Amino acid sequence: MKLSGQRIIVASNRVPYNIVKSKSGIKYKKSVGGLVTAVDPILSRNGGLWIGWNGSKGHDRDFEKRIEVGREKGKVGYALKFISLSSTEIKNYYHGFSNRSLWPLFHGFICQSHFDKDYWRFYRKINNRFANNILEEVTGGELIWIHDYQLFLTPEALREQSDRDLKILFFLHIPFPNYESFRVLPWDDQILRGLLGSDLIGFQTQRCAFNFLECCKKILKLDVDFKSKKIFYGDRKVEAGGFPISIDFNHFDNMAGSKKTDRYLKRIKSFGGEARVVMSVERLDYTKGIKERLSAINRFFEKYPEYRKKVVFLQISVPSRTKIKEYIELKKEIDELVGNINGRFADELWSPVHYLYKALPQEKLAALYRISDVCMVTPLRDGMNLIGKEYASCKADGDGVLILSELAGSADELSDYSIMVNPYDIEEVADSLHRALCMDLNERKMMMSGLRNIVRKNDIYKWASKFLDYYNNII
Ligand code: F6P
Repeated sequence: MKLSGQRIIVASNRVPYNIVKSKSGIKYKKSVGGLVTAVDPILSRNGGLWIGWNGSKGHDRDFEKRIEVGREKGKVGYALKFISLSSTEIKNYYHGFSNRSLWPLFHGFICQSHFDKDYWRFYRKINNRFANNILEEVTGGELIWIHDYQLFLTPEALREQSDRDLKILFFLHIPFPNYESFRVLPWDDQILRGLLGSDLIGFQTQRCAFNFLECCKKILKLDVDFKSKKIFYGDRKVEAGGFPISIDFNHFDNMAGSKKTDRYLKRIKSFGGEARVVMSVERLDYTKGIKERLSAINRFFEKYPEYRKKVVFLQISVPSRTKIKEYIELKKEIDELVGNINGRFADELWSPVHYLYKALPQEKLAALYRISDVCMVTPLRDGMNLIGKEYASCKADGDGVLILSELAGSADELSDYSIMVNPYDIEEVADSLHRALCMDLNERKMMMSGLRNIVRKNDIYKWASKFLDYYNNII
C-alpha cells in the first residue's frame, strides 16, 4: 500500500511505545491496544511522524529529542515526538475527562460517568497543546491523522490556530453513542464542533457514523445528508463513514508460526495437562465483560459437571488505567471471583481458572492462541475489538472456535463464523461454551477458515487504503 506519497502526521493520546527509564538507559516497548495494533504497521511501512504523550509525569529532557522506531525487517520506520503532561494534567485530562467522563458515557455506562468542570478545562487545554505541537511540524500538504476520544477538540483547534488549508482526518476507535445518550454530556455541542474541524471522520461501524450525524442534526441543528453522510458546516463540508478497523493478518500469521513462538509453545505444551483450553485476553476494563464472563464460567462448571478437570479457562487481564477508582475496584472484584470459582471447583491437581494479570509479549500470546480450543471475546460494548481477529490469524491449523459478543463492533463482520452471545446473558454464554466444546472438527475448521478468510481479505492495509482513498476522492 502506498499512501499517495503524502507525509503523515499521526496524533493520539499516547505514542505507541511504553517507555521505561532505567540505569542502563531508556527502553521502548510497543504497547498493546487496538489503536497501536492498527496504526503502527502503517507508519512502520510508510514512514511519518507520531505525536503523543510518553506516559510519564512532568517534563523530561530525555524526551525533548525525537526517536526513530519500527525500522525492523526492512521497514522504513517513523519518528516519535513526545508531549509532556504534568500530574495535574494527567489527573484531569487523562484520568478525568477522557476516562471518567467520555469513556463510560460512550460505552453506555452513563451512571459511571463523572462530569467535572476542571476535567473539562484541562481537556481543552491539552487538546490545544496537541494542536500546537502538530502545527509546529506542518510544512504544507501533509495529512494530519488524529485518533480517538482523548483528542476530540484538536481538529477545531488546528483550524483556529492556522491559516493554512489543512488536511485533517479523524478516526474514532471507540463507539459513538446515540443522541439520547450523547446529549447527557454537558459539553455535547463543543465536542461535536471540535470534531467538525476534520474533513473526514471515520467510525468503526455505520451505526456509529449515523449516531454522529444525528447528533449534529439535533444538537447543532446542522444541515445533514444522511445518505451521502455529509454535514454542511459553515462554508465546509465534512464527511463521516463507517470503516471497520482490522489487524495485519500476515504479521500475526507469520509470527504464530515463527521459531520464537514455537519455543514458547514447547515450554507451555503441558499447560492444562489433558484439559482443553478456553482463553480470553484484554485490558482490565469494565467494558470488556470480564466479571460477567467469569460468572458464565462458574455457571458452565456448575451446569456441565462432566467438564470439570477437562477444561481450563485462561483469563489474561492486561493492567490498565490503574489509578482510576473504577478500575481499582474492578480488579478487586475479579480477583475475588477467580478465587471463588477456583475455591469451589478446584481439586489437588486441577484449577478451573488460570489467571494472569500482566501484558505478554506478542509471541507468547500467539502461542497461547495456538493452544486454545476456544477464544471468548465477550465485551459489554466495544468499538471493534481486535482479539477475535488476532485469534483467527494465529490459527493456521484452522482448528478453533470464537465466541463473540453481539455488542462488539467486530460482530458485524465475524458473526457468520462465530458463536454469537449476549454477554449479559450468563446462561447463554455458559451454554455457548458447551456448544463450542461439542463441535466436531469439520465444523470447527469450517468456522475458522471463514474467519481467517475475512480477516485476510480485510486487513489493516485494506482499512487504511479504504479510509485514505475515500479521503482522496472527496477533496
Ligand atoms: O482503544 C481505546 C484506547 O483508549 C486507545 O486510545 C488506547 O490505545 C487504548 O485504549 C489503551 O488505553 P490507555 O492509553 O488509556 O491505556
